[in-house]
Amino acid sequence: MRALVVDPAAPGSLRLGEAPEPRPAAGQLVLDVRHISLNRGEVAFAGQRPPGTVHGYDAAGIVVRAAADGTGPGVGSRIAAFGPGAWAQRMAVDTTAVAEVPAGVDLADATALPMAGVTALRTLRSRPILGHRVLITGAAGGVGRYAVQLAALGGAHVIASVGSPERGKGLAELGAHEVVVGLEGIDAPVDLVLDTVGGPQLAAAWELLAPGGGVQNIGWACDEPAVFAPYSLFHIGAPKTMSTFGDVHEVGPDLATLLAFTAAGRLSSEVDWRGPWERVPEAARALLDRRISGKAVLDVTPGTAP
Ligand SMILES: NC(=O)c1ccc[n+]([C@@H]2O[C@H](COP(=O)([O-])OP(=O)(O)OC[C@H]3O[C@@H](n4cnc5c(N)ncnc54)[C@H](OP(=O)(O)O)[C@@H]3O)[C@@H](O)[C@H]2O)c1
Repeated sequence: MRALVVDPAAPGSLRLGEAPEPRPAAGQLVLDVRHISLNRGEVAFAGQRPPGTVHGYDAAGIVVRAAADGTGPGVGSRIAAFGPGAWAQRMAVDTTAVAEVPAGVDLADATALPMAGVTALRTLRSRPILGHRVLITGAAGGVGRYAVQLAALGGAHVIASVGSPERGKGLAELGAHEVVVGLEGIDAPVDLVLDTVGGPQLAAAWELLAPGGGVQNIGWACDEPAVFAPYSLFHIGAPKTMSTFGDVHEVGPDLATLLAFTAAGRLSSEVDWRGPWERVPEAARALLDRRISGKAVLDVTPGTAP
């Protein structure tokens, strides 16, 4: 089959090449992949994977083989999926990591959701947000645009932080109550920070945290270290916390929640770039250069299973 495989010599370390058909375990179905989506981490670190690896985690398509253990959707179901080896014509994926795509939701929109959407949902669930102030850094990006919408849905006061005024476009319409450049103009403490940027901005965001507040350290889109001033991590009163995030366990139910929101018109997939998968170097470059507002989705050329 055809697949986007790791090749350190290719632009962005990715090449459209050949890969063996997936061999599903008992709890895995086989998906005929129609669309895939890119995430910054996968694109930035593709070259660190072994050459020939089928890359990517987000896919949507049609089930062509049900799981041997009887779990999960049957043949012909439209599903969104999360798992390794997604950027291929066919993918074997755990039935616990898929969700059926409701009628009326485009498969291309569904494929944008798994990694970025589930990350936004799970980090927002780290503490109560109703009526609380939530700061989202990197708000113009893939995780960020979902986080803004979901935080607003959850009743938070949403502060969306972007790198430039231009990148703030559309965020108020998605539910942001304040759109700020960097952390300028935030005039009251925040209860929760979802941070996708890291670096000096993370250290500055820590200073904005209310007693008892927490930072979810999702990613590190910038390439600078964070330096914390002496005693800045010392605090008398309700503890402030900073947590790593990397929970990819059984994403299926949360993916179903996101798809239900999408079907109900409460969550927009925010697909900003779409094209055939042959154009992966162009899409990856645009993502790394901060020229995509939301998600990049690639259409997979169908191929017949042997
Ligand atoms: N822990 C997990 O499970 C998990 C899951 C998903 C993603 N992540 C990580 O989360 C991060 C965001 O992922 P994503 O897919 O949402 O990426 P994305 O769509 O590229 O968004 C990243 C955002 O970060 C901002 N940014 C980039 N470089 C910056 C810099 N030097 N200074 C300030 N802001 C900068 C950009 O802001 P502007 O647009 O305003 O310029 C951009 O919108 C990545 O590090 C990714 O690896 C982690």
